[in-house]
Amino acid sequence: MTSPHPHFKPVELKHASRLINHGPTVLVTTAHGRQRNIMAAAWSMPVEFTPPRIAIVIDKSTYTRELIAASGVFAVCIPGAMAADLTYAVGTSSGRGADKFDRLGIESVPAPLTGVPLPVAGCVAWLECRLIPEPHTEQAYDTCFAEVLGAAADQRVFSDGHWSFREDNSDLHTLHHLGAGNFARASTMVKAQPLP
Ligand SMILES: Cc1cc2nc3c(=O)[nH]c(=O)nc-3n(C[C@H](O)[C@H](O)[C@H](O)COP(=O)(O)O)c2cc1C
Repeated sequence: MTSPHPHFKPVELKHASRLINHGPTVLVTTAHGRQRNIMAAAWSMPVEFTPPRIAIVIDKSTYTRELIAASGVFAVCIPGAMAADLTYAVGTSSGRGADKFDRLGIESVPAPLTGVPLPVAGCVAWLECRLIPEPHTEQAYDTCFAEVLGAAADQRVFSDGHWSFREDNSDLHTLHHLGAGNFARASTMVKAQPLP
């Protein structure tokens, strides 16, 4: 069978932090039993290299939080610029009571380690995560800490542990939310040089 993600290769865990270091808007996918869900999140960041750990703000009112609390696992999927409409759609409606994958026609496959759904199209990387329970932080600040168990990325835009945003792969650039459904794509890279 052909792989649903032919351009994806595993990312070494020591490089996983680089996938979200530059602040892309992400999609959080979850599953518990027969329930599954997907939402947009702009507020995530790495907090440790090894073992790779991240923090992500997921409001307690979301269905996503409910499923993460029940299963203890989720994926952080990084949409490419071509998935701006999808990103906004999953961030402006709840999956509570109506499966967003079915409603929005999002095809998915189970993630290799956790079984959470990974969109077949639209994403350029993902991190599979295990919740590190911190009840006070989750309750007071809606911030969830997690360990990254595995990661993979589309070689056309992330390889050898680095993003490569170029004109010829602009559809694969990450999205950065500016508010009200407006996004900037990662776009031009600037290489720092030593000061004269
Ligand atoms: C671009 C974008 C970014 C968002 N970022 C966050 C975020 O960082 N944290 C959060 O809790 N909600 C965020 N949201 C809102 C959730 O995606 C939204 O509440 C969603 O409907 C929750 O879905 P659920 O109830 O199916 O889990 C964002 C929405 C959009 C459109």
